[in-house]
Amino acid sequence: MNTIENVKNYWNGRPCNIRHSTKEIGTKEYFNEVEARKYFVEPHILDFAQFDRWKDKNVLEIGCGIGTATIGFARAGADVTAVDLSEKSLKMAKKRANIYGFKNIKFYTANAEELSKTVPVEKYDLIYSFGVIHHTPHPEKVFEEIKKYCKPETEIRIMLYSKWCWKVFWIIFTYGKGRFWQINKLVPRYSEAQTGSPITYIYSFWDIRKLMKDFNIMNIYKDHIFPYVIGKYVKYEYQYVWYFRWMPKFLFRWLERHFGWHTMIIAKLK
Ligand SMILES: C[S@@+](CC[C@H](N)C(=O)[O-])C[C@H]1O[C@@H](n2cnc3c(N)ncnc32)[C@H](O)[C@@H]1O
Repeated sequence: MNTIENVKNYWNGRPCNIRHSTKEIGTKEYFNEVEARKYFVEPHILDFAQFDRWKDKNVLEIGCGIGTATIGFARAGADVTAVDLSEKSLKMAKKRANIYGFKNIKFYTANAEELSKTVPVEKYDLIYSFGVIHHTPHPEKVFEEIKKYCKPETEIRIMLYSKWCWKVFWIIFTYGKGRFWQINKLVPRYSEAQTGSPITYIYSFWDIRKLMKDFNIMNIYKDHIFPYVIGKYVKYEYQYVWYFRWMPKFLFRWLERHFGWHTMIIAKLK
């Protein structure tokens, strides 16, 4: 079940964020809306990616999906190498780059666990991977590959899903009726917009320090709780669920920073 083929088929079946717009798929209006919705729902990405910082730098993006961050880096003037396992996602990302006229992006279809078999080894200023490495069967192999593309100054910015967070509690209680011992089955089933992700690992800070033992972690923090009523969200309506509606904003932010679904990691090679 947990093979790389299954992972590829899953993301080919429904590339990430493909329903972020109701406009005709593949048009400029569609991609504009996808980007707007992405940063409306996940505004913390903008602070994390810091697109403008990478002008004239080279950026390796692992797991670019349909290319939302890829375009952000390219627009800021970076030289981007974008990689994904899913051909369907890459096709959309390439189309997106063409529509906006960006020539500073190289795309590769590759499995990040064997990146250097496909992507020429060179040193990058930034290695960026958002919400990807927890979906691959052997995350430790990805970090072995990443090392090959690092010089001492390379900044690594990665998001991995959190273990101790609101979303995991919510999945266990909503779908698992409290059966926390089934966590390893429940989380992959319900972690994504489309049910049944073959692999979704979750990590504590301690797990991440172990996984990234060859890297100096300069900053690690949690962010992001999805606050909307799902039935409305899929219809592009943004209504907070009742308990978040009444929660003071500062308390919601506190919750996000302590129990957010996204663990944001900034690191360099040791
Ligand atoms: C949740 S999506 C995130 C996409 C993008 N980073 C974003 O934020 O929109 C996960 C992506 O990781 C890709 N992926 C999963 N395992 C991979 C692997 N071993 N090598 C390359 N890409 C992989 C999937 O194909 C999918 O496009």
